[in-house]
Amino acid sequence: MLTLGIETSCDETAAAVVRDGRAVLSSVVASQADLHAQFGGVVPEVASRRHMELICPVVEQALSQAQAQLGQMDAIAVTQGPGLIGSLLVGMSAAKAYAYALRKPLVAVNHVEGHVYANYLNGGEMQCPAVCLVASGGHSDIVFIEQPGVYKILGWTRDDAAGEALDKVARLLGLGWPGGPAIEACAKEGDAHAFDLPRASFPGSFDFSFSGPKTAVARLWQACRRSAELGAPGEGPCRGAVADVAASFQEAVVDALVGHTRKAAAWAGARELLLAGGVASNALLRQRVAAAAAELGLPFRCPPTWLCTDNAAMIAAAGYHALQRRGPDSLDVDTFSALPLAQHI
Ligand code: KG4
Ligand code: ZN
Repeated sequence: MLTLGIETSCDETAAAVVRDGRAVLSSVVASQADLHAQFGGVVPEVASRRHMELICPVVEQALSQAQAQLGQMDAIAVTQGPGLIGSLLVGMSAAKAYAYALRKPLVAVNHVEGHVYANYLNGGEMQCPAVCLVASGGHSDIVFIEQPGVYKILGWTRDDAAGEALDKVARLLGLGWPGGPAIEACAKEGDAHAFDLPRASFPGSFDFSFSGPKTAVARLWQACRRSAELGAPGEGPCRGAVADVAASFQEAVVDALVGHTRKAAAWAGARELLLAGGVASNALLRQRVAAAAAELGLPFRCPPTWLCTDNAAMIAAAGYHALQRRGPDSLDVDTFSALPLAQHI
């Protein structure tokens, strides 16, 4: 069975063809990063206009890379939310048009569930209950998977998402956008213990908060810049300080993500530990979650980096499994900018 996946929740126009919910025959991601970099972040109106220009060519490219015809698709899976509403609407409208024209089932997918299913592309069976940390620009969710399609949120962020905090700190340090990869690259030259940044935790909760360390960095950076020997951010003699701040902030974010996830997985009696979302591309986070899983004696899964950041193969995978479980959605299904995957315990 071939599923055409479509993902346009933020600033990536993506389409993919996936066989039986597992084998990625093609995955095309047209990033708008260059377009938004000049603004230092995603501009929603600009993103939806670019999605409109790109959606049909991207779908055509995905079909051609998979050496498949549109008429061979057995189902269309599309992101329903959460995300930018104008962006979501472009993908949803295209998906409805394809489903209607082909008389094939349409299945609406939660973006966060898509990230979870990136773990099962190219093999493997889900072992429930499982715990998955989904860390991205919009989410820092500890997802409990009781059984396929049945979720609870064990912890989420009370303010910024992990990726959002990395993006903001990178901007502050003059490292550019998107910030996660920039912080990771810069941190390689720095000392992760140069600055002791705060880690937030809430009694009786696995929730995160990244605004504390972010504000601490802002104060620290102001002080750095005021001191006589430092120049403009990211340049000259300031370079060493930037790397130390980047490394210390990365350490604080990773430490919180891993610590809370480890505790949540132990508490929930997980049988496997998963990692997903754009921030899961981060090598330090991958190493630390793998180590936490090993300590707990759990199998660990994490998608390859190209399936961590937003893509449509993960939407096709989640859509395929949802279709088997609950059947298709009707063609009047809506999109939602806020669409919680599940209730928070
Ligand atoms: O999953 P994703 O592509 O989009 C959302 O659903 O938000 O995640 C994007 C986020 C951005 O905040 C980006 O800075 C972060 O993932 N990111 C990283 C890395 N690569 C992307 N964060 C840390 N280290 C990375 N290597
Ligand atoms: Zn995402």
